[in-house]
Amino acid sequence: NAMLQWQRTGFHFQPEKNWMNDPNGPVYYKGWYHLFYQYNPDGAIWGNKIAWGHAASRDLLRWRHLPVAMSPDQWYDINGVWSGSATVLPDGRIVMLYTGSTNASVQVQCLAFPTDPSDPLLINWTKYDNNPVMYPPPGVGEKDFRDPTTAWFDGSDDTWRLVIGSKDDRHAGMVMTYKTKDFIDYELVPGLLHRVPGTGMWECIDLYPVGGARGIDMTEAVAAASMNAGDGVLHVMKESSDDDRHDYYALGQYDAAKNMWTPLDTDADVGVGLRYDWGKFYASKTFYDPAKKRRVLWGWVGETDSERADVAKGWASLQSIPRTVVLDTKTGSNLLQWPVREVETLRTNSTNLGRVTIDHGSVFPLSLHRATQLDIEASFHIDPLDVAAANEADVRYNCSTSGGAAGRGALGPFGLLVLADTRHHGGDAERTSVYFYVSRGLDGGMRTHFCHDETRSSRANDIVKRVVGNTVPVLNGEDLSVRVLVDHSIVESFAMGGRSTVTSRVYPTEAIYANAGVYLFNNATGARVTVTSLVAHEMDSSYNQAYVASM
Ligand code: FRU
Repeated sequence: NAMLQWQRTGFHFQPEKNWMNDPNGPVYYKGWYHLFYQYNPDGAIWGNKIAWGHAASRDLLRWRHLPVAMSPDQWYDINGVWSGSATVLPDGRIVMLYTGSTNASVQVQCLAFPTDPSDPLLINWTKYDNNPVMYPPPGVGEKDFRDPTTAWFDGSDDTWRLVIGSKDDRHAGMVMTYKTKDFIDYELVPGLLHRVPGTGMWECIDLYPVGGARGIDMTEAVAAASMNAGDGVLHVMKESSDDDRHDYYALGQYDAAKNMWTPLDTDADVGVGLRYDWGKFYASKTFYDPAKKRRVLWGWVGETDSERADVAKGWASLQSIPRTVVLDTKTGSNLLQWPVREVETLRTNSTNLGRVTIDHGSVFPLSLHRATQLDIEASFHIDPLDVAAANEADVRYNCSTSGGAAGRGALGPFGLLVLADTRHHGGDAERTSVYFYVSRGLDGGMRTHFCHDETRSSRANDIVKRVVGNTVPVLNGEDLSVRVLVDHSIVESFAMGGRSTVTSRVYPTEAIYANAGVYLFNNATGARVTVTSLVAHEMDSSYNQAYVASM
């Protein structure tokens, strides 16, 4: 069916067919970026035969699909080769740790190596003979022990350390640390690295440094911290909440000697505060890219249509655009996520709108050749007189419950309509709204919300359509800015330089091909909004290639 085919993306990663979930073991090796992923070779739904799919790329965008790297073929992973991470040793060798679901569905940690380290494509993998290398420790549920992180070296006792997520019998999410000298024998470090009551099972933990002069690579950061604590390095802890299927992070301090991670702000602890993304984004993982000295984040973007639809189209899930992650040094209290700069190499036709003012209650079409693959950068400015006039407190505004793009207030909503039907203009015309809504708090201060309204994104009715988003920090004098990636069935937005991100899966049935367009809209009742700049880049496809053995 052509409409289902249209939903496949042009520059977001996806396998050629079948089901995908978590990104696994991302690593840079001999000039190639490797992405492994949870993959069901048998169909478009998750199952108990999950394997590691594999692709490699020179630029994080144009991928070569490679053969399945590891299949469930041993007693210790026969129910699934589950998520895991790569560690690059100082001599360049790669160690892969992953979770096996055993023949009794016990979660154990397993070790694997590239069979031929001279192969830059790392096609073949060898599982360690004496797997598993870690069993659930006493007191930990045998189904609550999974997803080992990348290891880092701790010079204080010459051991490698890594962490694994779990939960306890009181529904607290928690993180355990293991240390090892050789990746074969592991010792549980006493105590818990962190624990937050009420948050349930913590899947896919990530722990990494940000900020500071050397705060990028974990091994270097631990070395730096032990030499000179307080050199500006913070440690991000992330968990994927099995309770509500969101990725939560917090900024904190990692103390290797005490085996303790402490949040900067206890009110915004892991699992209760910040999310990487307020839309569809889960089980993410970062890796350190030594070639470009940056930390890169991948996230699994699942489907929000029905399982039936996924089976009909023969595939399910995408990966987010790879995102660089840095500390927001202006606020000091959140990360900045931004599409890797390679994305800009896919830009083709660019339309520069310049400056326009959109009156309240109006819509403004952009004239583009093709609007199904776009990279849009836009900045908005509200007249300060309008802000001053909007003196009513509006403290209850919430993206999810306040009427979406149709719920009018003095200073919002305004923004962009993407994958919007260019032929049909009724209230039910297909479009996904990407918008800001500014409200005044009881203290008189302004709060800016950034949201996606998916409720009109498709006429199909077997789809979860929501309004998602949250508040985003805006500092004095800053315009409201957003970058939106549109790619057939995904809309991925980065507000305020990446302080907040929102990702939506959308399934238009009419706003497709030449009938898909972009509009600016201002649905505020009391504000004229000036678009201070707007550039829409049409995006080339990244032409992923099948594996050719003779290359
Ligand atoms: C997260 C997760 C992991 C597990 C894998 C199994 O989505 O449930 O905890 O390792 O997926 O596919």
